[in-house]
Amino acid sequence: MHMVDKSVKKTLAELLNRPLSIGGKAVANRLWLAPMAGLGHVAYREVLAGYGGCGLMFTEMCGAKAVPTENPAMSTMFRWREEELPRLVCQIVGATPKDLIPAVRRVEDEGFFGVDINMGCSASGVVKRNSGAALLKEPEAAVAAVESVRREVSIPLFVKFRTGWTPDIQPAVDLARRFESAGVDCLVFHPRIAPDKRTRPAVVDHIRAIKEAVSIPVFGNGDVVIPEECLSMLEKTGCDGVSVGRMAIARPWLFAEWTSGFTPDENIFRDYALQLADTLERTYDPIRALKRYRLFSVFFAANFAFGHNLQTKFLGARSMDDIRTIISENIRPDMRLNKRPNMNLHST
Ligand SMILES: Cc1cc2nc3c(=O)[nH]c(=O)nc-3n(C[C@H](O)[C@H](O)[C@H](O)COP(=O)(O)O)c2cc1C
Repeated sequence: MHMVDKSVKKTLAELLNRPLSIGGKAVANRLWLAPMAGLGHVAYREVLAGYGGCGLMFTEMCGAKAVPTENPAMSTMFRWREEELPRLVCQIVGATPKDLIPAVRRVEDEGFFGVDINMGCSASGVVKRNSGAALLKEPEAAVAAVESVRREVSIPLFVKFRTGWTPDIQPAVDLARRFESAGVDCLVFHPRIAPDKRTRPAVVDHIRAIKEAVSIPVFGNGDVVIPEECLSMLEKTGCDGVSVGRMAIARPWLFAEWTSGFTPDENIFRDYALQLADTLERTYDPIRALKRYRLFSVFFAANFAFGHNLQTKFLGARSMDDIRTIISENIRPDMRLNKRPNMNLHST
């Protein structure tokens, strides 16, 4: 494993463990799981909880129109374990107060820690419906959405957003101020323009601009892969904490490693890969479970120096038994790891 300087470890853990409350509710630490469709599902979160160390987890984005009537026992996304609710924020994607209000009301009634409005997703299906990052083109609609949600629920309210549709940071700064005035409790900012599917590096300096514009907590997100990058985002931008996406899928123990000094053993990759297979199998029907495992495998395989071979094997699997065979034949303790896994293998 990549050797991390002792002073980096110590400083990082100290910064991440500073007490913090959001909307009057305490959170365990300042290192959070970012929302990720297809990856941050209930099965993954169950495995993540086993390692510990994650201050708050965000669900995959859940469609506002579906949430009011969704059955959690059958749903792919709007699904949770009772015990994770005190640390789980439900992310909603929707365009108008009419759609958002019934959804956030249900989120509050179910007992989630908080609700997060998605203003970052630029997938064409989402943007076409005027939701996700499309709201950043219409500041009035974005603020109206947030105001309506704020009037409806008293749980902590988050907005996850991006720079916008042009590289100029000023519109995002103006919006951040308006979100704060509208009663948002915490902003999670991903400093990329909406059409950029993570192919260019995130503009970390822009997190500082958002942080300096408001007095509510601002979390930074984007391209944090190794502890040095997490520390540098905190130190360079002054952000209140960090939200980690793809790397949390590749190495879910990073939360415990960076906040409380957990040391992974040599079999951790194999054990994780097997545990996720078992948990997905127990949670979803075989087709959904396999689909989700395949998506996971792209980020998992990025850990290894010859990850593309492994990824090809996983993508060819026809069943969870195939997956288990691939794991036992291929994941060994002595595999060469990439110090900085290439997270651009997948670009949704
Ligand atoms: C497969 C995938 C699905 C994603 N789904 C969502 C989502 O549902 N909601 C959201 O706000 N962001 C979503 N994101 C963006 C992540 O939350 C995060 O902003 C992005 O991956 C950058 O952070 P990272 O470099 O730590 O991965 C997704 C990213 C990936 C790779």
